[in-house]
Amino acid sequence: MTSVVCPGSFDPVTNGHLDIFERAARLFDEVTVAVLVNENKQGLFSIEERIELLDEATAHLPNVRTASFKGLLVDFCVAHDIDAIAKGLRAVTDFDYELQMAQMNGSLTDVDTVFIPTSPEWSYLASSLVKEVAKHGGDVSALVPPAVLSRLTEKYA
Ligand code: PNS
Repeated sequence: MTSVVCPGSFDPVTNGHLDIFERAARLFDEVTVAVLVNENKQGLFSIEERIELLDEATAHLPNVRTASFKGLLVDFCVAHDIDAIAKGLRAVTDFDYELQMAQMNGSLTDVDTVFIPTSPEWSYLASSLVKEVAKHGGDVSALVPPAVLSRLTEKYA
């Protein structure tokens, strides 16, 4: 049984994230989407809201579950018997930092990292940009799952 974690802030989940979860779910037996609880950073959505939105967005994927974690990602992996970390790579600009994190995580444990190239249609997508566009009344309906769209509309009403 192979298991992988897709970690992130997911504030909120976008169609780009969802594409990575769907592809990870085809490659691994079990996928855990894990939301980082970062006490130093106040997000737009609470951790509970992010998990609720992730649950809704991944409801069609039977081998995907959601969770939250504090502290080191590798500790979460060891505690939950997770073999690997899956990360989406949008562009070379992501690569330097992602490689550094993958190497650091690999030096702390034997949990390996696999990179999944983001589909070209989502290569410009980031939660921060989605929030900025939505805040100013721009149309993000093609970029996020329907439940996220309605929550963004409520937040910025
Ligand atoms: O969506 P994000 O904010 O880019 O996700 C970053 C995340 C959560 C994957 C990364 O910050 C992380 O793994 N944080 C947990 C703390 C940790 O393990 N730090 C050491 C990384 S080498």
